[in-house]
Amino acid sequence: MYASFKSIGAYIPAKVLTNNDLEKMVDTDDEWIFQRTGIKERHIADNDEVTSDLGVKAGLIAIERSGLTKKDIDAVICATISPDHFCMPSTANLIAHKLGLNHVTSFDISAACTGFIYALNIAKSFVESGAFKNVLIIGAEKLSTIIDYTDRTTCILFGDGAGAAIISGTDDKEKAIIDVHTGADGSYSDYLITPGGGSAEPCSIQTIENRRHFMKMQGNATFKVAVKTLTKDVIDILKKNNIKSEDIKHFIPHQANYRIIKAVGDALSLRDDQVILTVHKYGNTSSASIPMAMNDLWEKGGLNSGDLVLLDAFGGGLTWGSAILKFGGEPSLASIK
Ligand SMILES: CC(C)(COP(=O)(O)OP(=O)(O)OC[C@H]1O[C@@H](n2cnc3c(N)ncnc32)[C@H](O)[C@@H]1OP(=O)(O)O)[C@@H](O)C(=O)NCCC(=O)NCCS
Repeated sequence: MYASFKSIGAYIPAKVLTNNDLEKMVDTDDEWIFQRTGIKERHIADNDEVTSDLGVKAGLIAIERSGLTKKDIDAVICATISPDHFCMPSTANLIAHKLGLNHVTSFDISAACTGFIYALNIAKSFVESGAFKNVLIIGAEKLSTIIDYTDRTTCILFGDGAGAAIISGTDDKEKAIIDVHTGADGSYSDYLITPGGGSAEPCSIQTIENRRHFMKMQGNATFKVAVKTLTKDVIDILKKNNIKSEDIKHFIPHQANYRIIKAVGDALSLRDDQVILTVHKYGNTSSASIPMAMNDLWEKGGLNSGDLVLLDAFGGGLTWGSAILKFGGEPSLASIK
C-alpha cells in the first residue's frame, strides 16, 4: 500500500492588503517590499472568520475533488501557528466538528511554515501503516492575528489563507508519494518566535504592553539559514531517490520570499517554468502556502495525474522539510482546454 496525494483545495479570503495599503501603516514602500521579497499583496481574513473557518472551506473543496465523501475521512490533521484557541481545543477538532466528522481522530501540529510537509509525512505514515485509509491534511492560518502591524520588518511579509489535501491509500506506484523529509533545529528558536503567552512568558499586562504576543523575526539571519538548509535538503531528497532535477514537473516551494525560492531553484538548475510562484499575490501564509500554491496550479489546469512534484519549506523552530511525489488526483477541467 502506497500513500497518494489525491486532491487539493484552498480558500483565499476576499480582502486584499496591498503594499500601497501598508505604506499608510508603517514606514515602508512598495518598491522596497517587492524588490526584497517579491510580494505585491496578501489576503486578510474577515474579523468574524477564524482559522478553523478557513480550514473548513479548504477542506470541503479537497474532499469534493477527491471523489470521496465526508464519511470516508478517518483523520484530520491541521498544521497551524494561529489556532482558534491557545492550547485547546485543537483547530483540527473544530474543523472536524464543523465538517460533521465528530468521531474521527483529529489533532494539530506545530511546525510553523513547514507544517504542511510535517502533516503530509504523518498522513503518509498513517496510510502506509494501514492505520487510516483517508486523511484530510490542512494548513490554515489567520496570521493577521499574530502580526504586529506597527513592525515593518514582519507585517509586510504575511497573509491569511488555507489549503487542504486528501492523502489516501493506493496500490498504483505511479500515483504515490515517493519520499518526505522533515527536520528541525531548536538552537535557532529565537530567529522566529512569538515570545509571550506560553509557559516561558505567561500572559500578563506587561507581555501585552510589550507586544510579546506578536511574531518577532530576525529576518536577515533567517534568510541565510533558509537558503543553506533548503538547498541541502532538496539536493539530498533528489539524490536519495535517484531523481534528476530536470525530471521534476513542478517545484512548489514554501512562498516566503522570491529571492529564497530563486536561490534554491538556481541551486537545482531549475527552469522558470518548473517553479510555481504565488508569493506576489498571497505573501507568506505559513503552513497554508504550499497547498495554496498547488491549488492555484491545479485550478489553472497545470497539475495532472502522475506529474512529478517537489515540495520544500522552512519555518520557525527552525523547521524544514521536503517531499517528492507523483500527483495522485484527477486534473481540473481547465486542463482539458
Ligand atoms: C525580511 C527581509 C525581506 C528583509 O530583507 P533584508 O535584505 O534582509 O533587509 P535587512 O533586514 O538587512 O534590513 C535592511 C534595511 O531595511 C530596513 N527595513 C526593514 N524592513 C523594511 C521595510 N518593510 N521597509 C523599508 N525598510 C525596511 C531595515 O531597517 C534595514 O535598515 P538599516 O540598514 O537602516 O538598518 C529578508 O531578510 C527576508 O525575507 N528574510 C526571510 C524572512 C522569512 O522568510 N521569514 C519567514 C520564514 S518562514
